[in-house]
Amino acid sequence: MNYGFIGFGNLGRALYLSLKDDKNLSFAYVSKNNKRKDIRSMKNIPALVSFSDVVWLCVKPSDLPEVLAELRKTELNGKTIVSPVAGIDLAFIRKNLGKGPELIRIMPNLAIAYKKSVTAFCADKKNSVKAKIIRRVLLRSGRVIDLPEKHFDLFTAVFGSGPAFLLEIMRVFGNMIKELGIAEKDVNLLLADLMAGTLVHFRKNQNKKTIADLIGGIASKGGTTEAGLAYFKKKNLDELLAGVITAARDRSKKLNTKA
Ligand SMILES: NC(=O)c1ccc[n+]([C@@H]2O[C@H](COP(=O)([O-])OP(=O)(O)OC[C@H]3O[C@@H](n4cnc5c(N)ncnc54)[C@H](OP(=O)(O)O)[C@@H]3O)[C@@H](O)[C@H]2O)c1
Repeated sequence: MNYGFIGFGNLGRALYLSLKDDKNLSFAYVSKNNKRKDIRSMKNIPALVSFSDVVWLCVKPSDLPEVLAELRKTELNGKTIVSPVAGIDLAFIRKNLGKGPELIRIMPNLAIAYKKSVTAFCADKKNSVKAKIIRRVLLRSGRVIDLPEKHFDLFTAVFGSGPAFLLEIMRVFGNMIKELGIAEKDVNLLLADLMAGTLVHFRKNQNKKTIADLIGGIASKGGTTEAGLAYFKKKNLDELLAGVITAARDRSKKLNTKA
């Protein structure tokens, strides 16, 4: 089966890295500048479509209308179009591409490159053979959650943008430990280990204990963790983080109306 990527930036490459070991798949891409040399590039969108059984739309939401206008001019009957584009629903893509292709919307995150994505999945023809194949392929890249489209905006905020929000916390921690005098190249390594260790603990215990219980297991009465947690409470961390997720979710909603 031939997979073609329109756009080969952060997500296009991450998708390719997660799928490239499958011997039954061949890959090509087309992008604005076609500068990447790791896979075959096509000279334009019509050439990519004629190569591809499945076309992955890996462009920014603002570039999608232009790409759909190009795609519309090609023969799309029998093709499958998969869109990870944030905030753009299947109805918009259908309106632009007509009845020909099967459409699938997904929302992965960058961890797909390491087969650790949590990916939302919604096909316009849920029980079609092609939708089942794509779903199975994505399962090799992490977890796949079947999700009604109306929930994609919230899912995108937590699982698509989520890695950036968690890294933002790591960035602040990194700044705070500058005064320890640890070489800058080692700071990120230490922070990565902090995340990894926390993750192992969380993964091992998540089905037996609540997150509040796990936090309780670190905080002792009158101790350092308790002092930090009290500060979170005083500054209303719940409200702050809820605001972050709501802002991301609302942007996702707005992208569809702007497209
Ligand atoms: N990054 C993530 O973690 C993530 C997670 C989930 C979903 N997504 C979604 O994935 C999509 C891509 O995001 P990204 O982070 O990969 O963006 P990106 O790194 O900026 O890559 C965008 C790609 O689109 C190409 N492009 C722009 N205009 C084009 C056109 N007219 N024809 C063909 N190619 C064109 C660019 O070409 P050049 O390389 O030649 O400039 C580039 O390869 C977005 O819609 C985003 O919502 C991203």
